[in-house]
Amino acid sequence: MGKKRIQIFDTTLRDGEQIPGCQLNAKEKIKIAKKLEFLGVDVIEAGFPISSPGDYQSVKEICKSVSNTVICALSRAVEKDIEIAGLALKYAKRPRIHTGIGTSNCHIRYKFNSTPEKIIERAISAVKYAKKFVEDVEFYAEDAGRTENEFLSKICENVIKYGATVINIPDTTGACLPEEYGKKIRFLKENVKGIHKIILSTHCHNDLGLATANSLFGVMNGAEQVECTINGIGERAGNTSLEEIVMIFKQNSHLNLFTNINTKLIYSTSYLVSECTGMKVQANKAIVGVNAFSHSSGIHQDGVIKKRETYESINPEDVGINKSSIILTARSGRAALAFRYKKLGYFLNQNYLDLVYSIFLKYADEKKEITDMELKIILKKANFNNKKNNKVLHTNTNNNSLRINVL
Ligand code: KIV
Ligand code: ZN
Repeated sequence: MGKKRIQIFDTTLRDGEQIPGCQLNAKEKIKIAKKLEFLGVDVIEAGFPISSPGDYQSVKEICKSVSNTVICALSRAVEKDIEIAGLALKYAKRPRIHTGIGTSNCHIRYKFNSTPEKIIERAISAVKYAKKFVEDVEFYAEDAGRTENEFLSKICENVIKYGATVINIPDTTGACLPEEYGKKIRFLKENVKGIHKIILSTHCHNDLGLATANSLFGVMNGAEQVECTINGIGERAGNTSLEEIVMIFKQNSHLNLFTNINTKLIYSTSYLVSECTGMKVQANKAIVGVNAFSHSSGIHQDGVIKKRETYESINPEDVGINKSSIILTARSGRAALAFRYKKLGYFLNQNYLDLVYSIFLKYADEKKEITDMELKIILKKANFNNKKNNKVLHTNTNNNSLRINVL
């Protein structure tokens, strides 16, 4: 069976930027958009133009700065929103309007004080109106995760009839379990007339920490596009993280799925987004957290020094990180200590390593992490102790004997 290409729809600049304190100016948005194009995303959701004049302007400028990636603008199922989105996209080479409406009972009743029939009418009108501005129209069924599958099918069938090219099935509140979300996608694939003419998209939120798992199940059950953000930023607990879903496909060739992402640019993109938004990446974040390729316990360090794969399933170079790091803490062993000294140019023989290690442990018990500077201080201390005992210290560098100066 041939491999299936999954489209990556990046919404860092829209869903990601919605979070408090994360607002980006036009210059930052353009810089990120260019980086996303370079990274290889298929679609950039550049903003929600009706939301503010600044957002409108940014979407317009992004359209001029990006060469070939599809640029998408969000709107509600409201004519004025759609019109403004259409105008903002005027300069895009490949424009897409993303319009839609809440479809769950909760949204229909409490948000719109409406009925399912009227919601279908509004969905159809929105798609028809958006088609006046662009050919490529994506429809979102907001809160699809909590929408009954029969009703969801009905609304999908209708918007396809009126020209929707992509249908987005958001798990807006992150309420679904992976199996449940996967079944929803499969149900749509098997029951909606015309579904094979359009691209079916996942859009999962992370309220229960399941956004990436839900997107994966969506794709495994027939979805062709994943909506995601860099570093998983987004409303509340965030969205599916681009780096996670892309690396899941790459690491699991049996899934027969691939994307257009140049994974070697993942880390630099993550860094840029974190710098611009001011949103620090949590240390233990999969793929891009500072600890993602750091090893601190003695057993793991010993293994990684012997062969990286013993404790790493992903090669850090694949995501643009030069190497795994060996962090020295009180849980580290002699192998890690010798490894770090070797990097500083000191080759310690076994007896000397034992002595240095005992001093190291005293330091490490009092500190979180031992730095290169402290390693040098530890070495001086070891020399000093030896000098007191009238011992001459030698260390070996390959075949040459290097004497460490006693200071
Ligand atoms: O989470 C969601 O439902 C959304 C839609 C507006 C696409 O972000
Ligand atoms: Zn969302």
